[in-house]
Amino acid sequence: MVVDGAARRQVQTSRRQWSKDPLAGLLRWNTGPWAGTSLSPRQRSPDVEDWVSDRVREIVAAHRGERGALLPILHAIQAEYGHIDPQAIPVIAEELNLSRADVHGVVTFYKDFRQQPRGRTTVRICRAEACQAVGADALAQQVQARLGVSFGETTAGGEVSLESVFCLGNCALGPSVEIGGQLHGRMDGVRLDALLAADR
Ligand code: FES
Repeated sequence: MVVDGAARRQVQTSRRQWSKDPLAGLLRWNTGPWAGTSLSPRQRSPDVEDWVSDRVREIVAAHRGERGALLPILHAIQAEYGHIDPQAIPVIAEELNLSRADVHGVVTFYKDFRQQPRGRTTVRICRAEACQAVGADALAQQVQARLGVSFGETTAGGEVSLESVFCLGNCALGPSVEIGGQLHGRMDGVRLDALLAADR
């Protein structure tokens, strides 16, 4: 393929934008004059389990025509599997003609995407302003130390996944926490420990 000066400039612009927002870079990359060129090579993924590969390819096919298809594809995969398995990344990259690093960059940039299965119970701690003002940060530190995981992670035994959210609609009763889908206000470390123990 012959690449003219305008196309080369567009790619350079896309690369600069990638450093600020990986999705903005990808949208241009995937629809611009470089789509399908050797700058974003198709990668074979022979190590991927067939059942993951086939289903992921079906999901990609269902969304391929959408503008900025990567995000709806990732959401659909997460809705089906509960997380974005690392094995899915090379398959998505191959199907969308992106590099694995491109797809991995988007998965890790957006905190909503999980890379591990959820634990049996999910604890979501509100870290928005109103809750912060009444101790949400201290509670967050306490909970991370107590569980031995950071936000976005799951305890080793697969019991608890810890997530942060920005407003649970319970601002007057912060710090607000959701445990297994149940909302709790005026939370502190001692109460949270007791609720988690009761949940086991
Ligand atoms: S700010 Fe925490 S629930 Fe709204």
